[in-house]
This record gives sequence, structure tokens and C-alpha cells, in this order.
Amino acid sequence: MSGPNTNYDPVEVAALDPQLIEEAVEAALAAAAGAASLDELKRIRGAHQGDKSPLALANREIGALPPSAKAEAGKRVGQARGRVGQAFTARQAELEAERDERILVEETLDLTVPSPYQRLGARHPISLVTERVEDIFVGMGWEIAEGPEIESEWLTFDALNIGPDHPARGEQDTFFVEPADAGVVLRTHTSPVQIRTMLDREPPIYVLCPGKVFRTDDLDATHTPVFHQFEGLVVDKGITMAHLRGALDAFVQGLFGEGIVTRLRPNYFPFTEPSAEIDCQCWVCRGEDSACRTCGGTGWIELGGSGMVNRKVLTASGIDPDEYTGFAFGLGIERSLMLRHGVADMRDIIEGDVRFSAAFGMEI
Ligand code: PHE
Repeated sequence: MSGPNTNYDPVEVAALDPQLIEEAVEAALAAAAGAASLDELKRIRGAHQGDKSPLALANREIGALPPSAKAEAGKRVGQARGRVGQAFTARQAELEAERDERILVEETLDLTVPSPYQRLGARHPISLVTERVEDIFVGMGWEIAEGPEIESEWLTFDALNIGPDHPARGEQDTFFVEPADAGVVLRTHTSPVQIRTMLDREPPIYVLCPGKVFRTDDLDATHTPVFHQFEGLVVDKGITMAHLRGALDAFVQGLFGEGIVTRLRPNYFPFTEPSAEIDCQCWVCRGEDSACRTCGGTGWIELGGSGMVNRKVLTASGIDPDEYTGFAFGLGIERSLMLRHGVADMRDIIEGDVRFSAAFGMEI
């Protein structure tokens, strides 16, 4: 910086030349206007407003002027710096506004757009198996029938030939609905739908009744207090056990595979006579692997109960047993599912974890 000098002539100090100051201002204004981004503005700002800029230099020279010249030069330089400062501030505000505007557009989140990573739900395998079984029977011309889960004791037991003193009545692990003497229970099997159907309509009857049933079992790997069954009922003229066998074979082939057959073993149910346990040929080894884990090497898998509808049950349902005969069967859906898909623990089926359901695919 120059020291005080009484002979100093401002016109000869290049930095204070009005022409040059005006040019410096023009250059600064043009640069500010031309800055396309905040970064660029910041970068060029030093050249026009920094310590080494022409106007800062001019400002420093004022100190060396004779007092008479200081005011005028100070005003000129001050105004010039003010204009430049304003231009940069204004451009900065403009660029900031543009940036904010752009960010609002560019970073807008459309919350209604479905995410490609969204985990899809899955239908529960109980629903899938139920529908598959329904399809098999509907394909044979049967109808689907449903009944209430809270059921009268009479339809659940008495009408099915399970009288009050019948041993089977005590073995059913029944949930009774309060008050205890109301004669209302949570149905322990889907068989009361047989009675409802027969009371409701005339033969010929070909129905499949899927639904929830309840027994006072504790939840463990192989038991659950709420599970699903499907009951089949046919009542028509001339129905024999051969028809039962044919229907069961068609069912197991539809669910487990071509060529699989069933086997009937004598059993007892109060509502059927004669009664039979249904075994299905093992669809994994077809009886050819004594170490098969699915059938335990026996070649057969137990599926459920069946038989010819007891004459007493037909009579209780208003059907003449001399004119009509019928067959019925009942199978557990959880059991069919566990067998068909190798599910080892019942709890996996009832917990409702979508990861379990998803493994069964989106089969519909
Ligand atoms: N209702 C019987 C049960 O739940 C199954 C069954 C149905 C047996 C129809 C024979 C005929 O155990």
C-alpha cells in the first residue's frame, strides 16, 4: 500500500481511474449474471470481491490520496463495491431459489408408486389345499356345503347316532358353549353338515363340506385345538361302497398324483355302517421303499374315516333308508397338507408367518 503523499494525484493512480472502476464493475456484474451455479458463483466471487480484486485494490489506494480527493474517490469506490456486492448477493439468492426449486422437483417422493421391493403376501396353504380339494370334487359334479362352527349338540352327536351315553361322545374332547346345559358346542367334526344337508334337501345329494372344527387338544407339533376337515356325503339310489372307493381314488389321484389308490380297513364310527379307515398308497415310494420317511416304510398313509351312512342317521335326517343309501367320509386338511408338503410341525401351519405361506407359492 502507498503511504500518505500530499502530491499524490488521484487521476494518475491507475486503480482509481473511473473508467477502470466502471470496467471492473461491469466485469463483475457480467460474471455474476453469467454464473450458472452456486459453485461457480463462489469460485468467481474472489476475483471481483476478494482482497486482490481491482476494487479492493482501489479501496486500498484511497488511503494514500490527499484529503481533498479522498471523499470523491471513496464515494466512487464505495458505490462500485456496493453494486458488485449487491449483484453477487442477488445472483446468489436467485441461484439458491433455483436450486431449492429443482430439489423439490428432483427429490419429490411419490408415495403412491408401488415399490418393486414390496413383499407380497401369500395365500395360506390351508386355503390352497381346501380349494384344490373342492376343485377335485366340483369337477366330479359335487356341490360345496357349509354349516356353522357353533353347533347344536343334537346335530353334532345325537343325529349322528352318538347318543348321550355313547362312549364316543365322551371321547370327542368337546368345547361346550356356556351355559353348560344349553346343548351348544363348537363342532368337533364337520359331520353335522351331513345332517343339515339331508334335512335341507332331497336326494340325490353329492356334497363336500369343508370347514373348521374344534377339540380340546393342546397345541403341539401334531395337534391343534382348531383344525380343518372336509366331509364328503353322497345319498342316492343304489349307492354302494364301490362308489365310496371310486370317489376316494379320484380324490387321492387329484391331490397326490396319477395312479395312487386307496385301501379301506374295517373300523367303527357310530354314524356309518359298515365303517372303514381310509389309507392312501404312499405317493413318495408307492410301497417300494422300506425306509421311506413319508409312510414309515409301510407303503400306506392313513387319511381319515369313511363308511356307508348309518340307516339311523338317514332316518333322523328324514330320508327313507329303504329307498336311498349313501356314503360319507371325513379327512383332516392339516394332515393332508403336512403329508403332501412334508410339514413337520403343526405350529408352522397355524402361526400365520407369511414366510411359511410364501413357500407354497402363489398357486390359485
Ligand atoms: N367325523 C369323523 C371324525 O371327525 C370322520 C368321519 C366322517 C368318519 C364321515 C366317517 C364318515 O373323526
